[in-house]
Amino acid sequence: MNATAVWGITREEALELMERYLDTDAMRKHCLAAEAIMRALAPRFGADPDMWGLVGLLHDLDYNETRDHMERHTLETEKILLDRGVHPDIIEAIKTHNAENLGLTRTKPIDFALTAAETITGMIVAATLVTPEKKIDSLKTSSVRKRMKAKEFARSVNRDHIRLCEQISIPLEEFITLSIDAMQSISGKLGL
Ligand SMILES: [Fe+2]
Repeated sequence: MNATAVWGITREEALELMERYLDTDAMRKHCLAAEAIMRALAPRFGADPDMWGLVGLLHDLDYNETRDHMERHTLETEKILLDRGVHPDIIEAIKTHNAENLGLTRTKPIDFALTAAETITGMIVAATLVTPEKKIDSLKTSSVRKRMKAKEFARSVNRDHIRLCEQISIPLEEFITLSIDAMQSISGKLGL
C-alpha cells in the first residue's frame, strides 16, 4: 500500500499543503527540519518513518492563522486534515505538541518525540548561526549542549520541551546528536 492508502496523504501532498498555508521560508524550513528528526526517531520505536515524518511536516500548518491565538494552534490543522481524510493518529499526534494550551496530555512516544523534535530545531539553527562558518556541518553536540545551558541564548526555545526526549528514554546528548545529524542530511534545503 502506498502512503495515501495508509495515512490518507502523501509527502508530496503534505508539502503542497505546507506551501499553501505557511507564508515564510523560515516556517517551511522549520517543518522540514522537524520532519527529518521525526523520521530519524521513528525506527527506535518500531514506528513508520513516513508517518512520523508527516507529523513533523504538518505540525505547524495553521501557524500563520493561530500564532496570536495559541489556544487554537493545531485545531485549524485538525479541520484541514480531517477534511482531507488524513489518518486520525497523525492529527492526534500533531495536537499534542500544543498540549499545554489545549489541556491535553502527552502519552505516546510520538507525542514526546514531536514536541522535543520541533523544539530542538530552533536551538540547532540558533547554535549554527553563531558558529564562525554558520554551517551546520561543523556544529558539535557539545556546542548545542553549552548553548542550551545559557539561559539568555535563544531564550524563546523551551528547554523543558527539548528534555522531553528523556521521557522516551533518549538521553539529551544522544538526542542532540541525532537531531544535528538529521538536519545535516538536509542542510541544503535548510540553507544551513
Ligand atoms: Fe513547530
